[in-house]
Amino acid sequence: MTPLSVNGKPMTVDADPETPLLWVLRDFLELTGTKFGCGMALCGACTVHVDGRPTRSCVTPLAAVTGRRITTIEGIGLHKTGRLVQQAWVAENVPQCGYCQSGQIMSATALLNANQEPSDAQIDAAMAGNICRCATYPRIRAAIKRASKAMGGNSA
Ligand code: FES
Ligand code: FES
Repeated sequence: MTPLSVNGKPMTVDADPETPLLWVLRDFLELTGTKFGCGMALCGACTVHVDGRPTRSCVTPLAAVTGRRITTIEGIGLHKTGRLVQQAWVAENVPQCGYCQSGQIMSATALLNANQEPSDAQIDAAMAGNICRCATYPRIRAAIKRASKAMGGNSA
């Protein structure tokens, strides 16, 4: 049994230590908000936070996150920044098909936790690994700026 902390709750999982965190979350813990896209760390759909850092769960083995703090899209709204990002996403009506969006929100929240007033270039750099086949990029950028303002930042 591997001990984990997921969305602030301690839990244990009976899975092979090499199992990717994505499948632990989806198949063992029934947290299906985190999505499978490429399985090769190329699309960002599977992004979660590990100790606050955006992490591609499809290529992160369970053994690498033992005892570390994991946050998924199901728990990001428990934190102030994540809540403001989710509100901004709704206000800007960001999603189209929605498939990439949990990963987008996780990366955006990590960006704003590190930098409350990101420039356009900083937003583009932080979000470059999150692919959206529906090309919602302009609305993603607008929502990040909205959340930045709500945090008291001045992202123009
Ligand atoms: S599914 Fe993990 S980066 Fe694409
Ligand atoms: S909203 Fe469809 S892939 Fe991003």
